[in-house]
Formats: sequence, C-alpha cells, structure tokens
Amino acid sequence: MSVCPAQPASGFVNEDRLSRRLTAMAAIGATAQGGVNRQALTREDALAQRLLIEWGAELGLSPCTDPAGNLFLRLPGLDADAAPVLSGSHLDSQPTGGKLDGVYGVLAALEAVQAIVATGVTPHRPIEIVAWMNEEGSRYAPGMMGSAAFTGARPLPAILAVTDAAGISVAQALADVRRLLPEIPQRKLGLPVAAYVEAHIEQGPELEQHGDTIGVVTGIQGKRTFRVQVLGAAAHAGTSRRAERKDAMLAATGMIQALAHALHDPEDIVKFTVGRYLASPNAPSVVASEVVFSIDLRHPDSTRLKALGDQIAPICQASAAPCDVHVEELSRADSLEFPPAMRDRVRRAAARLGLRHRDILSTAGHDARYLHPHSPSAMIFVPSHLGLTHCETEYTAPADLAAGARVLADVLNELANPG
Ligand code: GLV
Ligand code: MN
Ligand code: MN
Repeated sequence: MSVCPAQPASGFVNEDRLSRRLTAMAAIGATAQGGVNRQALTREDALAQRLLIEWGAELGLSPCTDPAGNLFLRLPGLDADAAPVLSGSHLDSQPTGGKLDGVYGVLAALEAVQAIVATGVTPHRPIEIVAWMNEEGSRYAPGMMGSAAFTGARPLPAILAVTDAAGISVAQALADVRRLLPEIPQRKLGLPVAAYVEAHIEQGPELEQHGDTIGVVTGIQGKRTFRVQVLGAAAHAGTSRRAERKDAMLAATGMIQALAHALHDPEDIVKFTVGRYLASPNAPSVVASEVVFSIDLRHPDSTRLKALGDQIAPICQASAAPCDVHVEELSRADSLEFPPAMRDRVRRAAARLGLRHRDILSTAGHDARYLHPHSPSAMIFVPSHLGLTHCETEYTAPADLAAGARVLADVLNELANPG
C-alpha cells in the first residue's frame, strides 16, 4: 500500500537550518582564505563525521559504518526489511577546497530526511544518508574509494593498502578515524539499495549562465587517471656534464609538454591536467633523480577517451631518454548515462516546485558513478557562482541550496513510498 503524505516533504525544508549546518561544517578544517581543508581520513574528516552523527541522533537516525569507512545514518521505514533509498555525497575536501563540494550533498540529504520526518508520515522504505569515504582522492589517490568498495568496483584490500605522501596507509588512517568516532555498529559492504540520489553543486557555470536553479544530471563524463614516475640519477649541478646527466626534471617537463601538445583540443572538450608534481631530492644544486606526476584525463565520449588515454604511455616513453619512465593507470571509467526514469523524477519534482531546470552532463566525477551500476541512480545540481570549485571561493546562494534540498526531499519521499 502506498502512503501519501498530506503535505509534500519539500514544504518542510528549512533554508536557515541547512545554511547553519553548512557553516558549522565549514568551521571544521577552515582555511585562512575562507575555504576548507578537510582531506580524507584526517582528524578534521573524523570531526565532521562526528558532528553528522550527532545531528542524526537528534533526529533519531541510527549510525553505522562499514569496512571501507563509509558512514550511514538510517531513518527506519514501515518495512524494516525493504532495501533503503540512499542519498548523500562526501565530507572530505581538496586541500584548498570550498565549503560546499560534497558536504552539500550530505547535508541536503539530512535536511531532506528531516523534512520527511516533519510530514509525520513514516516512509515505506528506510532512507539512509551516506558520507562516502575519500571521494576527492587528494590525500589517497584515486578517489571515490568508499563508493568503489561499497559497490565492489575495487577490492577493499587494494584500497586499504594505498599510502599517502607520508607513507600512512588507508588502513592505518581509518583506524585513527575510528578512534575519534563514537562506538557505532559496523555492517558488511554493499547492501542492496533501492535507489541512490546525490545532490551536488554543479561545479561549472551553466546553470548560473542560463538562470536555472536545478540541473537534472544526464550522466557523468569518462575519466582516466595515471601516475607517471620518471627515474634519473642525482648529480652535482656544477660539476656533472650534460652528456652524462640523467635529469628527471628535464625529462618530466618534456613529457608534460609533449602530452599537452598531443592532447590539445581547440574545442576544449578534452580535459588534460597534471595537478601533482613531486621532484626528488628537490634541492637547488642537485640534478633531480626522480619526478612523480599525476595525469587526470577526461572526455565525454568513451571511445575518444580510450584513444587519447592510450597515447599517454607511448608519449612518455618517447620523451624519457636518458631517464626511465613507468606509467601506471590508476583508474579508468567510461562516460555514463543515468536512467531516464530517475532523471524524470528529478525533472518532475523541480517542475512541481516551479523551479527553472535544465538537463546537464556532469563533467566532474561523483560517487554516483559507482552507485549507477549498483542501483538506479540520479543526481541533482544547484548553481555554482562563476562555476568556481576545488578552490576556496566556491559559492552557491542559500536559496539555491535550499531549492536543491526541496527537490531532493520530494524525490526521496517518492522513491521511499513506491505507489
Ligand atoms: C571530483 O572531485 C572530481 O575530480 O571530479
Ligand atoms: Mn564532490
Ligand atoms: Mn571535488
């Protein structure tokens, strides 16, 4: 039997409460320039999880975790055995991140669940809020570790063995985080999920430029990431002869120039980024013995992405001499399209609320990528001012944040009460 609340859940979404919670979360890992540094599995990440657990407890939500360090807060449904509807995103940030990337999706889900509770009608299915472990992939690469482990896309032991720049493994950092959290139950990875909906800031300029409030996300563009290690030999900057040098710095910069040239796209659809570059021993008077750099390559057409990505290793090899180079592909994901029926739910909910909306492809990555093959998934975008993100100036107007939470509340309530 379907249960129909008298008033839509969206009517109970509270813009001020959502803003207050976002401000409180932004204080955890706040940077001097007004952004957030709350990288995965740090003390700040743990404190943010602790605050989320406290807010959930005020609403009667029960927390639990899993072996990958994902955090879930559960609102019971009338049918305790039914697969839950799941909604959330991530609490971790980039080192100079903003106040909204990820955390907005988690707190929009909390706001939506609070609104559903306020209707006074218990949903048929349980609803769970989720904060996925390490979406950003900054401290531990590649990202989206929690959602990848949850859905079986990547094996947990391989994830737990990844180390950060200081040699601390995910397993060790996860144990440190657990010590900072209250005792909460742990369940197995990968429970069945009836549907997954992730709200997120757009992270691009389209919605704002078109004067739209809601993005109905059609899919996510494909991405490949690589780690390139260039091995030379340390030598004296004044005494060693050029012919005898194995200068890893020169070889690496040559590779990056060659890659940028080969991957240059006048239409600006190919996205090629070297965001990390570590030289050793990093001393002014020593020829570099080693350089490690990252490559992030994206394209909405999976065939093009494959062809472009396959050029990377040969180009690096061709520019390596007299050094050696090792190219390791860390992750590879084709472009995906969310199911039309899920997108229709988001579109209809936005239309019912009188919100201007448009279909939009996500050119950024999200945990919904891994949930998509696991359960029917959708994403809701709200505008990003000037499209700025992964930086401290990230901003979305509070009214737009609340609008996204209202759409989310109605979509979640509909999914939790199948008619
Ligand atoms: C996620 O943060 C991404 O890099 O797309
Ligand atoms: Mn994000
Ligand atoms: Mn991000």
